[in-house]
Amino acid sequence: MKIGIYGGAFDPFHNGHLSMIRGAIASKKVDRVLVIPTGMPCFKPARNVTLSPYRFYMVKQALKDEPKCDVCDIEQVFGEPSYTLTTLKNLRKQKVVSDKDELYFICGSDLLFEFESWWKPEEILKQAKLLCALRPGIDEGQARNQAMHLEEIFDTKIKFFPIEGVEVASSVLRKDADWEKEKTIPDSVRKFIRTHDLYCEDAPLMHVSDETYKLLMKHCFTLFHEMSGKRLLHSINVCVLSARYALRFGADPDKCALAGLLHDCAKELPEQQQIDLAAKIIHGYVPGKQILHSPAGAVYAKEHYGIEDQEILDAIQYHTIGREIMTITDKIVYLADKVEPGRDYDDLSMIRRYAENDLNAALIECYCAIKESFARKGLAIHEDTKKSLAYLLANRSQ
Ligand SMILES: [Fe+2]
Ligand SMILES: [Fe+2]
Repeated sequence: MKIGIYGGAFDPFHNGHLSMIRGAIASKKVDRVLVIPTGMPCFKPARNVTLSPYRFYMVKQALKDEPKCDVCDIEQVFGEPSYTLTTLKNLRKQKVVSDKDELYFICGSDLLFEFESWWKPEEILKQAKLLCALRPGIDEGQARNQAMHLEEIFDTKIKFFPIEGVEVASSVLRKDADWEKEKTIPDSVRKFIRTHDLYCEDAPLMHVSDETYKLLMKHCFTLFHEMSGKRLLHSINVCVLSARYALRFGADPDKCALAGLLHDCAKELPEQQQIDLAAKIIHGYVPGKQILHSPAGAVYAKEHYGIEDQEILDAIQYHTIGREIMTITDKIVYLADKVEPGRDYDDLSMIRRYAENDLNAALIECYCAIKESFARKGLAIHEDTKKSLAYLLANRSQ
């Protein structure tokens, strides 16, 4: 099979990318296209690129109904930034493609002019041929001359395919941040950006330490392979919102971001494993199914993710029901979990509004909403939540 390889940061994925993929398939020069969102950023400081799972699932969403096209997670691993050559070799090594498949590296014609300065270009061409898009308006003659030059020095064959001209660049989109503008991004991407509150001006993760940012990236890659996309995106939303609340209320953004990211780290483990983990810190009874993953998560975060900080572990342990006296980190992670931007199960506007300037008021509002919804089902809230609510009400500043 002839497989087109199309890699990029896709930050965000836009209609220009879509037109490349469609053009390559329409040209019939490839049978399928494998789209590979980069994991570790290559040419930019890591923080200037949106966290990898957001970009991966954004692309996945955008291409969900696209024929002859797959999104590949081969670069979703922590480590050194991966170069084109490494990725191409790994595709074969990991049997994503077979030895018989012919690979075509899909690129824009501008790439032809910088290809010689890439890392081991001759090696790349042993793995894949170049399949180059021709946009209307570019100097086709120059591109073809350059292609001939490369064909000569690298003993290769370069193919071309036409695409519709879509004048759009990710960097410009991020700068404008006008996601409602038509014809720039697919609707699914627009919805994804809105749902996850991406490209926000305040960018809370810019304020965590370098060391913590590196840990967040590393844990994101591990979580990527350990939980569903839906839960991972929820976890990252909680991470970002926790960091935002930490900055707003004078808490530690590093601790809050880490606790936020890992708060559900045990939720998709087999139930028996969760019971065994929780038993290490809760003695004498097995917590209910909805709560189990919080103590299990605290132990798992310590054993599997190397978290030693008790404040972080506590915030994970108490994120479902709270405890009588909550630390600021507990409160932040608890709230962020309930109202992160992807949550739409209820009217959360009041709690979100309170959380603008009064953490305790937001928490009281949140507990009361849960109490009411439980009462409607004839249920009572957990004893620890009751105690936490009573404590907050008793200590409320007048
Ligand atoms: Fe949870
Ligand atoms: Fe959660």
